[in-house]
Amino acid sequence: MLTPNRNYANLKDSYLFFRISKQVAAYRAKHPDLPVYRLGIGDVSRPLCGAVIEALHHAVEDQAAADTFHGYTPECGIPEFRLAVAGYYARRGVQPDPEEIFVSSGASDELGDILDLFDPASAALVTQPAYPAYVDASIMAGRKVSFLSAGSENDFLPLPGKDTDADLLYLCSPNNPTGAVYNREQLQQWVDFANDRGAVILFDAAYEAFIEGDLPHSIFEIPGAEKCAIEICSLSKTAGFTGTRLGYTVIPKALERGGMNLNAMWVRNRTTKTNGISYILQKAGIAVFTGKGQRQIYENIRYYKQNARVLMEALDRAGIRYWGGKNAPYIWMACPKGMKSWDFFDLMLDRIQVIGTPGEGFGASGEGFFRLSSFGDAKETRIAAERIQSLVQGL
Ligand code: MLT
Repeated sequence: MLTPNRNYANLKDSYLFFRISKQVAAYRAKHPDLPVYRLGIGDVSRPLCGAVIEALHHAVEDQAAADTFHGYTPECGIPEFRLAVAGYYARRGVQPDPEEIFVSSGASDELGDILDLFDPASAALVTQPAYPAYVDASIMAGRKVSFLSAGSENDFLPLPGKDTDADLLYLCSPNNPTGAVYNREQLQQWVDFANDRGAVILFDAAYEAFIEGDLPHSIFEIPGAEKCAIEICSLSKTAGFTGTRLGYTVIPKALERGGMNLNAMWVRNRTTKTNGISYILQKAGIAVFTGKGQRQIYENIRYYKQNARVLMEALDRAGIRYWGGKNAPYIWMACPKGMKSWDFFDLMLDRIQVIGTPGEGFGASGEGFFRLSSFGDAKETRIAAERIQSLVQGL
């Protein structure tokens, strides 16, 4: 008799955002006339920018004529896409070889798939609160997971200590959910730790485009990272590809463990497990990295940042402490009156029809906190901000 993957029995009943969407759907079924205001899952609301739409149309036309038609694309990415991403890194003084860039269908898929490179016996360390897919994908793979707590005492930016132990280490900066960003000195400590320990950092840079000022966007801005890190990026939040699906992963050729080269292993993995990513989508991705594409995506990012300001001002008026919002699309607020995060979620839904994400969904150290997303429509965000302010002031 077949044995299923018993590790699934160690997971929570449902994935955080799936649970929330079910609760919201049940509420809407009961109250069909009430509008709801979505500040929950980090899903974008602005349409794809003009440069991307133009590239999509051209790519569709290419597929319509025999002499421009493309069948399978190279599994690790079409050369033009890999070059475009390498050029984007070069602007920050990082010079990846295009063969170190791998196209992907987005960060969340890749964060699970990449675990194929590592022995399931190697333990993962997750700074917590954390994007729940790190933990769930590791549990599904049967990996031991331990946590390093982030809190207001360390500005949600934990650093390695003498007792820190890990084979595989997840770091996310700007952080989802807290919005905290590591500076160069702090990231250097993690890089030195990983190199000393022989660990590998899985660096989630999905929100790098939201950084303002002189903070590192990529772990590869840190000396020594090419020997200990893999960077996972996505066009979902930077360019509105949540429903379009495209991302990229950087695996340096210098990254080796146990006498094996991780870049070569990922080539072996991708050429076996995928037949590439759609030609049409990669052409759209290339458009993101053109001058026109960059100008247009930053207009959308500015729109989301304005939403974040509106939310932060409302929290200021309500006297609520919060983090993030400046270098990230998320605002991480303390629940009012010491409330538990799922209780605050229920209260917001019931009383003001605003959906957020309970901090506990990002792990035990997120209890007592709540995440607001700035990816919504501006008008709805303004209404939601006013409602949150008056709800909190009335408690
Ligand atoms: C989030 O809300 O944390 C993310 O948008 C979810 C995701 O990217 O999968």
